[in-house]
Amino acid sequence: MINEHSLRAARAIDGERLWRRHAEMAKIGATQGGGSNRQALSPEDAAGRALLLGWARARGYAVSIDPIGNLFVRRPGTRADAAPVLSGSHLDTQPLGGRFDGVYGVLAALEVMEALDDSGIALPRPVELVVWTNEEGSRFAPVTMGSAAFAGALPLESVLATKDAAGLSVADALAETAVRCPVEGSRSFRFPVHAYLEAHIEQGPVLEAERKTIGVVSGIQGLRWYNVEVTGETAHAGTTPRARRKDALRAAIAMVTALEALTDDVADAIRFTVGRVEVRPNSPNTVPDRVLFTIDLRHTDAAVLDAITSRIDPICQQHRGPCAVRVTETINSKPTAFDRRIVGLVRAAAESLELSHRDIVSGATHDAKYMAPLYPSGMIFVPCERGVSHSEIENATPEDLAAGARVLAACIAELALE
Ligand code: GLV
Ligand code: MN
Ligand code: MN
Repeated sequence: MINEHSLRAARAIDGERLWRRHAEMAKIGATQGGGSNRQALSPEDAAGRALLLGWARARGYAVSIDPIGNLFVRRPGTRADAAPVLSGSHLDTQPLGGRFDGVYGVLAALEVMEALDDSGIALPRPVELVVWTNEEGSRFAPVTMGSAAFAGALPLESVLATKDAAGLSVADALAETAVRCPVEGSRSFRFPVHAYLEAHIEQGPVLEAERKTIGVVSGIQGLRWYNVEVTGETAHAGTTPRARRKDALRAAIAMVTALEALTDDVADAIRFTVGRVEVRPNSPNTVPDRVLFTIDLRHTDAAVLDAITSRIDPICQQHRGPCAVRVTETINSKPTAFDRRIVGLVRAAAESLELSHRDIVSGATHDAKYMAPLYPSGMIFVPCERGVSHSEIENATPEDLAAGARVLAACIAELALE
């Protein structure tokens, strides 16, 4: 059971302040369609970080940054040397992203720290907020870059050398961000952490459809990313007969069609997406000589992912026609199971706060995936409107956001007492 002191922390959550801050953050990089465009390490991302740090510094919290730009905000505990309870998410967005994906987990963690202060609750362990760098992976691949580097799953040197489409490296973009949003303290990777908790909107339709307020997240489905590069030959669109063409786009379409058929399961549980297609020279009257397309493939069962991924290269080779094709894996992330005690704590907190809840596996990936092998970890979901996310129209209610923050507060207070 959740003790009274932790429930008091939960009741101190100020839902209006939390909602107002979402609106203020959304002004930075606001898009015409009502969403946000704060891509990783862009000037907008730096401005978002600065806004958050302004709130944190106003409370006197210490701020620090690690070598990949993950930000930390610390509320001290009464036992200075105790490992902190860590909670957060990300402030970077998709190019046409929403106002809540990631932002909620960051602002909810800050709200918990402030609620603890406002109600005069002293806890033995420090509570730390983390803002992970480049969770989205749309400007710099891969997704969850900052937490992967922190966890040692990606080597720092290769991450720093990664370039965006304009040829700017992560190292250069980090240096620009440091000028725009200076941070005084420095942190190392993989410092001791007592437990990690991340609040997030569900990004899918389950909670809303079942009228549940809290998703007790048991794990994250597995994720594979590939780049498929098809190479042919440019030719004149008006003069070149079909038999003489090496049309990279025609070959790519055949590959994608065959992969769609492969992943079209009756249960509709396989998630297969081609989200980026680059065509060269991208001219209406020239046969394309190079196409690069991405594959994002997800499922809860590692064996299902293995079976599908073993077919990707053979299918692409089979449909290449006169072109060449190269398939490169860029992410291979196994399904994650969260710590059973933390999952139980989230469920108990929802129950003590009389919030409807259900267990759920995350369809989206999250930084919590890289924390789970290092520290006892878990996640808390709240519903979002029609389950829509990675979209400018992403929406959630102030009441649900506040409810999730109350669960987060109760869990953090419990863990910080240990
Ligand atoms: C994270 O944004 C994901 O792609 O799941
Ligand atoms: Mn997210
Ligand atoms: Mn996202």
